[in-house]
Amino acid sequence: QQAMNIGLLGFGTVGSGVLQIIQEHQDKLYHQIGCGVTVKKILVNDLEKERPGSYTQEQLTTDADEILKDPEIDAVVEVMGGMEEARLYIRQALENGKNVVTANKDVMAEYGSELLDVADANSCDLYYEASVAGGIPILRTLVEGLASDRITKMMGIVNGTTNYILTKMTKEGRLYEEVLKEAQALGYAEADPSSDVDGLDAARKISILGTLGFSMNLDLSDVKMTGIRNVTSEDIQYAKQLGYTMKLIGLASRDNDEVEVSVEPALVPSDHPLASVDDEFNAVYVYGEAVGETMFYGPGAGKLPTATAIVSDLVNVLKNKRLGVSGNSLVLPQFDKKLKADEN
Ligand code: NAP
Ligand code: HSE
Repeated sequence: QQAMNIGLLGFGTVGSGVLQIIQEHQDKLYHQIGCGVTVKKILVNDLEKERPGSYTQEQLTTDADEILKDPEIDAVVEVMGGMEEARLYIRQALENGKNVVTANKDVMAEYGSELLDVADANSCDLYYEASVAGGIPILRTLVEGLASDRITKMMGIVNGTTNYILTKMTKEGRLYEEVLKEAQALGYAEADPSSDVDGLDAARKISILGTLGFSMNLDLSDVKMTGIRNVTSEDIQYAKQLGYTMKLIGLASRDNDEVEVSVEPALVPSDHPLASVDDEFNAVYVYGEAVGETMFYGPGAGKLPTATAIVSDLVNVLKNKRLGVSGNSLVLPQFDKKLKADEN
């Protein structure tokens, strides 16, 4: 079988990681999918920019239609970020019969339900594992691994940038502004890092976790949100002296009909497992009535960890395409449209 073609929307930190993994793991991809994978076109803003990686100038385009309308492209990977344009391109790709993989929590938290409906209506797949907790396969775990359990609580560190900042302020006594710049240079932060430091990125992720874990459509406006902008070095050092570590904690809990979702800086006892989650790492604690306590840990941001989640999703959607199946015919993370928050 000939190689399958994909189109990349975006070629920044994550997009370049996706290209690298596809190029370096061809044997594994061939084994998994049954054919090779070729990156046919890559959408960028700036054709002249110098970029890492092995690609040709002919692969680059500034015209999204060269990807979205190309009948030879089997799947689209959206790693450009932002909201309305990304939402539109994902929608158009699905309407044109292409499976889509995205890392975009902004779009999935806001329009996930709408886009999954578009996927359904067009017998296509929309996967988004990389949108929460980078390299940790937490969405698949909630939807597949814990499919039989009733989850009542999820709690954790789901933003790598703020965890990186708080870690460096705590352990090295460094200044907030300086460490934020370092997190940006390392590719952890969002294009507008205020969504990291003000808690919005974590709020989007916890609303996706709550939606999938509790099988209800949680809205971003349901999340109480406070970021780390007002956390001072003095707060952190004082907490440390008292045996606590400052962490930005996302929480989603339910007690029968009552659902509570929040993101806020919290003092975690320094001997608690979450206190030792450092730098850009994330951790998600999940409590299920039958399974009890589980905890998932790994890199929450960065080029290759995030790209691993995307290319793993890509394996699934390309395999589905080859087999001529979509939607729920193979296990996939998807909102349960039958259950809404007010019916639970
Ligand atoms: P990035 O480094 O800023 O890259 C964005 C890429 O998209 C750039 O190549 C840019 O083109 C291109 N782009 C943006 N808007 C465009 C437009 N309107 N038309 C054409 N090209 C456009 O961002 P990133 O860090 O890779 O993040 C991408 C997505 O992954 C975001 O949704 C982010 O939330 C998500 N994510 C990121 C991480 C992480 O660790 N970075 C982890 C998980 C999820 P130019 O290169 O020409 O400017
Ligand atoms: N800006 C995000 C973070 C990227 O720092 O966690 C990963 O989603």
